[in-house]
Amino acid sequence: MVIRIAAVGDVHLDEDVVGRFRPALEELSGHADALLLAGDLTRHGTESEARCVAREFGGLGVPVVTVLGNHDHQCDQAPQVVRTLEDAGITVLEGDGIVLDCAGGRLGVAGVKGFGGGFAGRCASDFGEPEMKAFVRTTTDSADALGAALRSLDCDVLVALTHYSPVPDTLAGEPLEIYPFLGSYQLGQAIDSAPTALALHGHAHHGTERGATPGGVRVRNVAHPVIKQAYSVFHLGDHLDQAQVSGVGASGIQQSWS
Ligand SMILES: [Fe+2]
Ligand SMILES: [Fe+2]
Repeated sequence: MVIRIAAVGDVHLDEDVVGRFRPALEELSGHADALLLAGDLTRHGTESEARCVAREFGGLGVPVVTVLGNHDHQCDQAPQVVRTLEDAGITVLEGDGIVLDCAGGRLGVAGVKGFGGGFAGRCASDFGEPEMKAFVRTTTDSADALGAALRSLDCDVLVALTHYSPVPDTLAGEPLEIYPFLGSYQLGQAIDSAPTALALHGHAHHGTERGATPGGVRVRNVAHPVIKQAYSVFHLGDHLDQAQVSGVGASGIQQSWS
């Protein structure tokens, strides 16, 4: 049995962009059991932009699960954004998870936005000024919440959903100088603390699609400018140790925008 997961991030919808994904999304229920969105759904995180997201991703006939991205926080309207999405039937995760009954088994999804901090040998540390400690603590708290949510889910296939990257692999193509603002190794450690089959993230528009955590969990950057299509579809088998992950081309948007 196979669970089919569609995913995309960084769609950055507003009134100018809304509608571009919908033709491909109308066909999604034939290709996938669920759609996971990896944050940066809006340009500036306004309630009106969230209504665009609700129009685009509501009523698709499959469960839609998302995390927010940094752009979705820009106007300090995150609670209104979350409420608007939830009113459209979209599940918003932040330090929690959901188990979906799919034809191929129970799909568990745990999600957080995540935060920066950097990667092994090149990361911020919990030392010195209170501002630096607060920065690192934000990442640590987010990673701890992700790990706890992943370990709490009773499911057949477990997926981690974040906006920030858990590994540097999928940042290849971005300037090295900004890696600490694109993700954190602590998210990777959280993913490796559970029997995670697949980790999905966005945020790195100029990054690379494929990577893996130190523990061997497959990581995919599904930012729309990276995958250059309306969504990618991943097939995951029953057995976590045999989870087969394959990107399947989906019809839809070919152009990218940031
Ligand atoms: Fe983005
Ligand atoms: Fe982002």
